[in-house]
Amino acid sequence: MADLSGKIALVTGAASGIGKSCSERLAKAGATVVLTDVQDSVGKAVCAAINQSGGKAIYLHQDVTSEDEWIGVIAEVRAQFGRLDVFVNNAGIGIGGLVTEMTLETWRKQQAINVEGVFLGVKHSLPLMRTSGEGGSIINMSSVAGLKGSAGMSAYCATKGAVRLFSKSIALECAAAGDKIRVNSVHPGIIDTPIWDSISDTVELTSVNQQGANRIDLDAMTAITTPLARTGVPAEIAEGVLFLASDASSYITGSELVIDGGLTTR
Ligand SMILES: NC(=O)c1ccc[n+]([C@@H]2O[C@H](COP(=O)([O-])OP(=O)(O)OC[C@H]3O[C@@H](n4cnc5c(N)ncnc54)[C@H](O)[C@@H]3O)[C@@H](O)[C@H]2O)c1
Repeated sequence: MADLSGKIALVTGAASGIGKSCSERLAKAGATVVLTDVQDSVGKAVCAAINQSGGKAIYLHQDVTSEDEWIGVIAEVRAQFGRLDVFVNNAGIGIGGLVTEMTLETWRKQQAINVEGVFLGVKHSLPLMRTSGEGGSIINMSSVAGLKGSAGMSAYCATKGAVRLFSKSIALECAAAGDKIRVNSVHPGIIDTPIWDSISDTVELTSVNQQGANRIDLDAMTAITTPLARTGVPAEIAEGVLFLASDASSYITGSELVIDGGLTTR
């Protein structure tokens, strides 16, 4: 059992899906978790549930595209806890569409959240993570879309490919600095979260969900694409994140943890 007692963890995009599950799992392992998101009421409810179930967590509002907000969040973590051990750079969006129809504005929006948000997070968290001298773990959320191309998802793939190689480069910078901070990327496959609601117009396999909106039929898609033939759940990503956060992965840096039911093995 991973024991993160005494550790401080920061998770972005923590109000929903994978970030929510990671926050819950890290707290269950004993970490004090700082949850951030733009969805404040939902994020506060996730935080309250963690505290009610015996975990330790606080919630802070944060738009990851804002450098000022990054400076504020890290200052708050420093003031309250004096250290940061685990950083899960998770917030992200998925906007699909054919490249000829994609506006520059949409491209930039996705880059701003998925890439610039990750850059700003690493830039501003690293100085605090280095202060303890005990090392730490940065986990950047990429995707199988950072490993292979996908028609109708070019802009998203571009962001997740960027996260993959950014992570490896920071792993090398940390190793060269001798700061004992490990940096890895996580590559989920098809995981059932609300992110798919915004990718509805990009893939042929759509169906009408219970709310009546067009949504990709994840089960139909995984039946075709994924050897394990089922959709993943956020908790399965959180287990991988916990592994990378813990000392069980002490010799792993610059690596890619693919959690995809075998999707990329074909
Ligand atoms: N669900 C999947 O199948 C899947 C697969 C591969 C990778 N991912 C990645 O996992 C991460 C989490 O996605 P998810 O599936 O849990 O989606 P989600 O929509 O459930 O959660 C994303 C969270 O990010 C937050 N967010 C969005 N913009 C933000 C901003 N500017 N600042 C702060 N927070 C912001 C949202 O409010 C939301 O709470 C993303 O980086 C996504 O690309 C998801």
